[in-house]
Formats: sequence, C-alpha cells, structure tokens
Amino acid sequence: MGFAKGRYLLMFLCVQLVVMALLYREGYRKRMSYFFGILYKGGAPSAAGTAVGAHLNSSQPGDVYANLSRILKPSHGAQELPKCPKTSPLLGGPFRVTFPATLTMDDIVKKNPYVTEGGRYRPPDCISSHKTAVIIPHRNREVHLKYLLYYMHPFLQRQQLNYGIYIIHQAGNYTFNRAKLLNVGFKEAMKEEDWDCMFFHDVDLIPEDDRNIYTCDKFPKHASIAMDKFLYKLPYKSYFGGVSALTPEQYMKMNGFPNNYWGWGGEDDDIAVRVALGGMLISRPSVLHGRYKMIKHGHDKGNEQNPKRFNLLAKTRRTWKQDGMNSLEYNLLAKEHLPLYTNITVDIGFDNMPKRPS
Ligand SMILES: *[C@@H]1O[C@H](CO)[C@@H](O)[C@H](O)[C@H]1NC(C)=O
Ligand SMILES: *[C@@H]1O[C@H](CO)[C@@H](O)[C@H](O)[C@H]1NC(C)=O
Ligand SMILES: *[C@@H]1O[C@H](CO)[C@@H](O)[C@H](O)[C@H]1NC(C)=O
Ligand SMILES: *[C@@H]1O[C@H](CO)[C@@H](O)[C@H](O)[C@H]1NC(C)=O
Repeated sequence: MGFAKGRYLLMFLCVQLVVMALLYREGYRKRMSYFFGILYKGGAPSAAGTAVGAHLNSSQPGDVYANLSRILKPSHGAQELPKCPKTSPLLGGPFRVTFPATLTMDDIVKKNPYVTEGGRYRPPDCISSHKTAVIIPHRNREVHLKYLLYYMHPFLQRQQLNYGIYIIHQAGNYTFNRAKLLNVGFKEAMKEEDWDCMFFHDVDLIPEDDRNIYTCDKFPKHASIAMDKFLYKLPYKSYFGGVSALTPEQYMKMNGFPNNYWGWGGEDDDIAVRVALGGMLISRPSVLHGRYKMIKHGHDKGNEQNPKRFNLLAKTRRTWKQDGMNSLEYNLLAKEHLPLYTNITVDIGFDNMPKRPS
C-alpha cells in the first residue's frame, strides 16, 4: 500500500513538473516576443524610420516647414492616386517652436499653398485614410491663433491627413464656456463633412513633435500629456485638459461635453468622468511625443475661475445623460470660410438661463 501511495505522489509531482515547465516556456516565449517586438518596432518602417531617426537628435529640432516642399502635385490629373503609406515619410520628429513677433497671417497662407478655403487640406499626392477636424474654442486670442495656425498646418500635412480647422468664436461678452463651444464645434463640423476624428484643441498649445499623430484611438485620447507648463509631465492622473481626441461614436457614447461650465476650470475633469461613465478608458500617446509648448498669457477677462466647478463635478454622475449633446442650444451667427480656418461665430447664451420646460 505504502509503495502505491508513493507512486501516486511521484506521478503527481511529475505532472506538476510538466505543467510548470509548460507555463515557464509560455512565459519565456512571451518575453522573447516582447523583446523581438521592441527590436521590430525600432527597425521596421524603413523609410520613415530613418527619416525619424535622423531627427531624433532633439538638441537640434528642425523647422516644421522642412520637407513640405517634397509634397508634389502629380503632373497628370487623371491618374489614380496611391493610398498614403501607413507611416508618413514626411515625419521629422521634434521641431522648433518659437514665436516670431513679425509673423503675419499672410506669411502663413504663402507657406501653405495646398491649404484650401476654410482651412481644409488633403494630401495632393496620395489618398489619406484619416479625416480629422481640429476644433478650437476662441475669443480675443488672435495672436495665439496666428501661432497655432503657423504650426498646425505643416504639422498635420507632415502626417498626411485629410483635415479641416474650425475656430468656434463665442460672440458677446458673457463668461467663456469652453466645453459648450466644443459641443458646437462638433455639431457644426459634422454638418460639413463626415469626420472620423475630432481634435478638441486649446488655442495656446503648440505641439512640438509630429509623431504625436492626430488620429483617433480605440478609446478617447488625451494628447497633451507633456506640457512645458507642467514640466512635461501629467499634472495628475485623470487630467484631460488641453488637447483631446474622440471619434464621433466615442463622443456620442458620453453625450458629448457638459454645457453648464461657465468660466475657467472643471469642465475637463467633467469630461474625464464622462469618459468613464460612458464605459471607456483614456488613451494617451507616448510621453516622448505628446509634448506641447504653452503660449504664455495673462488672465483673460470674461474667463474667471468658475466657483461652481466643484459642485458641478460632484453631480456629473446624475446629470451627464441630461446635459450634453442632447441638450445643446445655440444660435449660429456667422460662418466664414477663410484661407486658413473656418470661423464659426455663435451665441451660446449665458449662465443661469431660464430652463425651458422639456
Ligand atoms: C546632436 O546634436 C548635437 C548638437 O549639434 C551634436 O553635438 C551631436 O553630435 C548630435 N548627436 C547625434 C547623435 O547626431
Ligand atoms: C526631411 O526628410 C529627410 C529624408 O527623409 C530626412 O532625412 C530629414 O530629417 C527631414 N527633415 C526634417 C526637418 O524633418
Ligand atoms: C463687449 O465689451 C466691449 C468693451 O468692453 C464693448 O465695446 C462691446 O460693445 C461689448 N459687446 C457686447 C455685445 O456687449
Ligand atoms: C470670427 O467672426 C466674427 C464675426 O464676424 C469676428 O468678430 C471674429 O473676429 C472672427 N474671428 C476670427 C478669429 O476670425
């Protein structure tokens, strides 16, 4: 009997040994494939890889307009364009961001010959599979806007995107409402084109690396994760301010953005809460690529800190389904297709408007 028991024990131990060996091998394989994955990623896209590699020397970032001269209109119009490559050969990595005082809108127009009325662009030499709208809430920031346009156009052209730039201008002198302007921008931009990605963009943030690709991800993306103002780090884990990107589906899933944040602050945290309530996670680019320079400015009149922001935030869980895209009301006052952007001017009302019975 003792002998049989011993044999069972031995068999049991053998089986366990085999299982452990298998598990170990599996883990080993995973580690190896991870390792090879890194090697592969480092060396795979050859043309783009070398172009990007050559400019990884960030002690000498390049000119954002360099290489745009390589965009050529095909000579015969009838010929069918190829699809754009998966990684754009025009990427150059980090570029220099400075704010020359003499820059004019006319200079920017001259430097961007392929940009058409309303600030629209599509690569003239290939068919892009991405359609991105950049939505910029705006009031009295013409100088910032000029610099943003100077960098944004070549930045997006290097990425070979179909794109359009929309300025959402809040008319009147009532308190600024960033999130509501973004809702308006979404709605108005979608009326013009079936965009597949919306970039919601503060006017004073300039990207510094063109590998921060302006396309959407599986989850809502927070792009401005490394701002110079916050020493190129996230200020806190759920931070969602500055520049974010959502597909129309992701946007509708969270009922858009809140309409009731008047003044500075809070709305970005509300949006982050909505992402979670919509059952989604937050996606982010690499911290090496999601870098932004903030244009310094004084305090804006008409955009004072919103004293109600903490109360509002505490209620988001109850209010997000009633307040958002489905309750958006505004008056479209003007829409101009200018050479570098579409200017959408809206009256979005003011705080404490009498609620309409619904
Ligand atoms: C990067 O640029 C610096 C400054 O010009 C230069 O000294 C250095 O050799 C460069 N490094 C590489 C890897 O090219
Ligand atoms: C321009 O393209 C060339 C060739 O692809 C590349 O070596 C160079 O780094 C690019 N320059 C800039 C400033 O991106
Ligand atoms: C906004 O304020 C400016 C200056 O304070 C004033 O000139 C202008 O008439 C105001 N606009 C409206 C629509 O009230
Ligand atoms: C947009 O249009 C409005 C109304 O015409 C105008 O007051 C505003 O200055 C324009 N903004 C920009 C940035 O073009």
